[in-house]
Amino acid sequence: MINFLRNIIVSRSSKMLSYAEFISLVLYHPIYGYYMRKRIKIGSEGDFITSSNVSDIYGRTIAKWYAAIVEEYGINPQICELGAGNGRFAKAFIDEWHEKYRQPLQYYILETSPYHRELQRKSLSFGETVKQIESFDEITPFSGLVFSNELFDALPVHVVEKKQGQLFEVMIGMEGNELVEKAVILQNEQLLSFLKKYQLTLNEGQRIEIPLEMERFLENIAKSLEKGLVVTVDYGYTTEEWMDISRRNGSLRGYYKHQLVKNVLERPGEMDITSHVHFDALIQKGEEVGLHFLSKQRQDEFLLSTGILNELTEHHDPNPFSQVSKRNRAIRSLIMPGSMSSFFHVIMQQKGYSFKVDDLFKCS
Ligand SMILES: C[S@@+](CC[C@H](N)C(=O)[O-])C[C@H]1O[C@@H](n2cnc3c(N)ncnc32)[C@H](O)[C@@H]1O
Repeated sequence: MINFLRNIIVSRSSKMLSYAEFISLVLYHPIYGYYMRKRIKIGSEGDFITSSNVSDIYGRTIAKWYAAIVEEYGINPQICELGAGNGRFAKAFIDEWHEKYRQPLQYYILETSPYHRELQRKSLSFGETVKQIESFDEITPFSGLVFSNELFDALPVHVVEKKQGQLFEVMIGMEGNELVEKAVILQNEQLLSFLKKYQLTLNEGQRIEIPLEMERFLENIAKSLEKGLVVTVDYGYTTEEWMDISRRNGSLRGYYKHQLVKNVLERPGEMDITSHVHFDALIQKGEEVGLHFLSKQRQDEFLLSTGILNELTEHHDPNPFSQVSKRNRAIRSLIMPGSMSSFFHVIMQQKGYSFKVDDLFKCS
């Protein structure tokens, strides 16, 4: 991959790539991109773990929550999952639905990675009611639930920093065989207007990621969604949190075999690269395109509101590896203080409805 990147960089008159271009290539190039290659990424044998892969209880709990809303308010029993990874969430959601509810369910998956699409084909029965789609156009106008877990943190971002009172865009160039950062005076109008629009005034020495791709994604969701809910689960910061001194280096980082890698120029194409979501921008952009803000909750609080604790099963089985023990442990690991859930937030937006947040929990 390094030779491939070098060829692109030297062919440019600027001899540089933006960070967003670099991330697009190292994660999503059809041949060399991390997500496009056949190698396990999620779980103990991969590079990182997600809530969907901690236990099926995660997908099952969200299915139960959405089924209750469908029954109470007649919202469409359709879901479009974005960036569904290996399909573990979808499988748990669909299994729960079919075991407990009579309403027919329509499940769409939009996933870029051919490797992950293949894993989904192995674990899910695709047909009329469960479908992989290539683009939103195939299901527009969509009505129901648009769900994603850890999609937005995997989208390409630009990087900007402030030095000696001047804003720079951080680009990627080559020195010998090494990928290196190169700062150029910030001239990209889209980045300047993002900073202005979301009132991100950088402090001296501060670096921040700019998610233009997230804005485009929200526009596409809004165009496709006629009526329904958008539930986005991810880690991220509010504008105030971004400005905290502890975040002055931004949030871009890699994950390789469950180790955090600070230098994202290492191991191109072999490790995941991720950054925190700009929650205020997600909410504000949503409002602009007609996805009206409903709530932002920590994931553990969201799961508690759905009634996940009712799923704990009383048992006296001393075997810690029994199904019941494992399930109870998984539930606790999703809601314990300091568990992974406390780092994630659930953002809910709505279109064509005027729910209050309590409306969506009183039925579960
Ligand atoms: C961090 S993984 C999360 C997977 C899964 N949601 C989970 O909870 O385990 C991000 C997933 O989003 C997919 N993805 C990234 N960009 C995408 C896009 N533009 N459209 C659809 N899927 C995308 C990646 O291929 C990957 O499968």
